[in-house]
Amino acid sequence: MAVYLNGQFMPLEEARVPVLDRGFMFGDGVYEVIPVYSRRPFRLAEHLKRLQHSLDGIRLTNPHTEAEWKRLIGELIARNEGEDQSLYLHITRGAAKRDHAFPEPPVPPTVFMMSNPLPAPSPELLQTGISAVTVVDNRWLRCDIKAIALLPNVLLRQAAVDAGCAEAILIRSGEGDGTAFLTEGAASNIFVVKDGALYAPPKDNLMLPGITYDVVLELAAANGIPCHVGRVMREAVFAADELLLTSSPREVQAITRLDGQPVGNGRPGPMFERLYALYQAYKRDVMRAAAD
Ligand code: PDD
Repeated sequence: MAVYLNGQFMPLEEARVPVLDRGFMFGDGVYEVIPVYSRRPFRLAEHLKRLQHSLDGIRLTNPHTEAEWKRLIGELIARNEGEDQSLYLHITRGAAKRDHAFPEPPVPPTVFMMSNPLPAPSPELLQTGISAVTVVDNRWLRCDIKAIALLPNVLLRQAAVDAGCAEAILIRSGEGDGTAFLTEGAASNIFVVKDGALYAPPKDNLMLPGITYDVVLELAAANGIPCHVGRVMREAVFAADELLLTSSPREVQAITRLDGQPVGNGRPGPMFERLYALYQAYKRDVMRAAAD
């Protein structure tokens, strides 16, 4: 696998960063995961916009212009295998003597990218859906930043894996009033389906503004599916007819079991089938338009 590190392309085995890198020391950095279909990055402008939002959130200067990112990403895709890939992009505040405060004067950031083949979703997964568990969202208040400091997400996802599930659904407590509401998954966004309508948590500081989340809401709006964006209470999650998960590598998936109980009738439902089909058709259209 060819990777990109600080201005150079090289085999993964040759990529090295200093132990004093602030990514290693403090998790002081941000990242993106960009799906690549037919060797073209999907929604690249939106991913680069979110990257800028994350960089602004941690007060780190963007090391590249949009045109530079596009060129580097294009070259990395060309150097790797697979028509469909999952491209990982990572920027840290660089290597400096260990001190919590930012290095002064600033040091060069560390910029790393790799790209792995992205397998198509298995037919079995489409037929059965996935299982999830609910867990308490105990993360910080800037979940809109795509920070590489993922320890809470790692522990929450592992709680799901320990329960034999593929994802953890995060429920945050309200402000001392006994209420609780849905934020997102450990590494995904979550939608509730009820009576033919889609319910999505708002893009605030408590969740990552998913690129796939936006695509799903756009497709729903364009196809006459009623959408409600606003706080989704814990009770609504358990009363759902269907639960859907979205993320760049997983696209749209049906959650068919929650905390050991079936969601709806326990099978992927009509909203999932519709949005999955719309998503695949949209992908094909975008990629065809890009090829013309
Ligand atoms: N994660 N919420 C969280 C906490 C995430 O980590 C992700 C994606 C999403 C979905 O965002 P998008 O649709 O833009 O992929 C929501 C990536 C895939 C990861 O950490 O590997």
